Amino acid sequence: MASSSSSSSPLMLFLIPFLLFSVSWASSHHDVHENLLQCFISQYSSIPISQVVYTQNNSSYLAILDSTIQNPRFSTPTTPKPQLIITPLTESHVQVAVSCSRKYGVQIRTRSGGHDYEGLSYVSDVPFILVDLVNFQSISVNVKDNSAWVQSGATLGQVYYRIAEKSKTLAFPAGLCPSVGVGGHLSGGGYGMLMTKYGLAADNVIDAQMVDANGIVLNRVSMGEDLFWAIRGGGGASFGIILSWKITLVPVPPIVTVFRLNKFLGEGAIKLLHRWQYVAPNLPKDLFLKAILDALPSQSGERIVRASFDALFLGSADKLAPLMEEGFPELGLKLKDCIQMSWVESTLYFYYFPLGTSLDVLLNRTRNKDFFKAKSDYVKEPISENGLEGLWNRLLDDIEVGQVIFSPYGGRMSEITESQIPFPHREGNLYMIHYRVAWEEKGIIASNMHISWIRKLYSYMAPYVSKFPRAAYINYRDLDLGTNHNNGLTSYSQAKVWGHKYFKRNFERLILVKITVDPTNFFRNEQSVPAFTSGGNKKSAFLCYFILFFILM
Ligand SMILES: Cc1cc2nc3c(=O)[nH]c(=O)nc-3n(C[C@H](O)[C@H](O)[C@H](O)COP(=O)(O)OP(=O)(O)OC[C@H]3O[C@@H](n4cnc5c(N)ncnc54)[C@H](O)[C@@H]3O)c2cc1C
Ligand SMILES: *[C@@H]1O[C@H](CO)[C@@H](O)[C@H](O)[C@H]1NC(C)=O
Ligand SMILES: *[C@@H]1O[C@H](CO)[C@@H](O)[C@H](O)[C@H]1NC(C)=O
Ligand SMILES: *[C@@H]1O[C@H](CO)[C@@H](O)[C@H](O)[C@H]1NC(C)=O
Repeated sequence: MASSSSSSSPLMLFLIPFLLFSVSWASSHHDVHENLLQCFISQYSSIPISQVVYTQNNSSYLAILDSTIQNPRFSTPTTPKPQLIITPLTESHVQVAVSCSRKYGVQIRTRSGGHDYEGLSYVSDVPFILVDLVNFQSISVNVKDNSAWVQSGATLGQVYYRIAEKSKTLAFPAGLCPSVGVGGHLSGGGYGMLMTKYGLAADNVIDAQMVDANGIVLNRVSMGEDLFWAIRGGGGASFGIILSWKITLVPVPPIVTVFRLNKFLGEGAIKLLHRWQYVAPNLPKDLFLKAILDALPSQSGERIVRASFDALFLGSADKLAPLMEEGFPELGLKLKDCIQMSWVESTLYFYYFPLGTSLDVLLNRTRNKDFFKAKSDYVKEPISENGLEGLWNRLLDDIEVGQVIFSPYGGRMSEITESQIPFPHREGNLYMIHYRVAWEEKGIIASNMHISWIRKLYSYMAPYVSKFPRAAYINYRDLDLGTNHNNGLTSYSQAKVWGHKYFKRNFERLILVKITVDPTNFFRNEQSVPAFTSGGNKKSAFLCYFILFFILM
């Protein structure tokens, strides 16, 4: 149950020094903007404001806004833009961002790496400011107690690089794409090739520092265990601005083994994929074997589909070969297919950098961007060969650049209970599917066409995947699953549609935490955990609390 910590006391609200011009709430849009700017200027008086606040007039404004937009669908001339971009240098700058925007009724969107699939970290349809944590990138690795403090604006690549600098036998179990930001990734779960051995990134967080809706800086002790639970997988954007995370580093051998085997239709790829479903979730924890279907143009120009089987083994090649021979002989792995390397080198391999690429690319925060739409599913029963064939054939579609990734669960993922953190997809899941379609043409017509293709693919898959709810992964955010009204007035029956897909029964507990720590629903977006109050009406919050209490009993 949500406990009432001191931070949520309404009294604390008044501890924030609100000063400045008294504004009339009826002032025009332009005045609000001016006053908001003045609020920042006066509060940031001790530092050069030009380094922290960007107005739409500033010549760097668009470059900063665009810098980490990963999906150009949300970077068009008509995409709503923030009134101000704030790039805080210190935690007090973040506190001021909360107090000023709260004072002037302007929403905040927080961005770490900008990978949000629906652009929620930098787009809103109500007046908003963007707090971009680009200056919060520091990482301090402590090999003595296998931990690190990592700021939210750091990328996964930076984290892997800094760990490897200090140790060849420590790692962190997080995602594959090096430019993904720590802030969004850890607050939504975060998985990668170490998932069956060590769980999610969020499973390995042991402390955090955040600024709450009252502008107060909290750590694990002062936020309390309920809020600390919520930010590890519940999506950070509902609860505050998380500045940094303390993570546990996990042991890996100095040498790991990887392989990638590509199989085409003529080589029995569909049969192998069918078999994979029985094998991969039951392999030893040290062996992670995922499968990827990609649509490619062939030499003859026609579309073909390739299945690739990518594996990470925490051990040497001579130990891996017999394991595969025993567990999955059909795949036909040969010793010569295996490559030995350090764990950090394997992070490059799985992101398709050529062998021998310098580790420095992990520090590159930019990636090649394409228009895309993606969705996720969980699979609890193996899909029939027929079912897989239908999926395969859909990928052969001429105009679509589609990709489907199958990531096995099991191992450590099944040992952690559904309610340990808000991420609920544990025992009983064989694997997760990630569907993605990408395109290059600009404009809404192209975009609608490709999105409609992936929606049809998703309907096709319905009989084969989890039901009641049809579960989904919040870090693969999908607004097709349902949205709140951005004005905050959302009913429970409306919110639970998407809420149960991402969080199952943890959704109700997330709501209780939300009501306690952010009763006015200051931090919100189209898929934030709702507080079921408008303007901080305490009576209705109280009522909700009790209704939910009984739902949970
Ligand atoms: C190319 C690509 C590859 C990916 N690969 C993987 C993968 O291998 N494994 C995996 O699990 N996921 C993967 N993802 C998904 C990724 O984990 C999520 O998109 C994640 O939320 C991105 O975090 P971010 O900080 O980059 O995103 P942002 O867009 O900055 O943020 C995402 C959400 O979190 C909120 N948020 C961000 N920072 C904070 C903060 N400091 N405090 C509070 N709220 C915050 C934002 O407001 C937004 O709602 C991938 C995404 C892409 C685009
Ligand atoms: C824009 O911002 C930059 C960097 O923050 C600052 O140096 C510059 O003075 C600003 N320019 C204008 C026109 O405000
Ligand atoms: C931009 O600058 C013009 C004058 O140069 C000013 O009139 C306008 O108010 C400014 N707009 C913003 C959003 O700061
Ligand atoms: C970073 O990666 C991008 C995208 O691949 C590339 O265009 C750019 O040149 C790289 N930057 C550096 C400094 O290597």
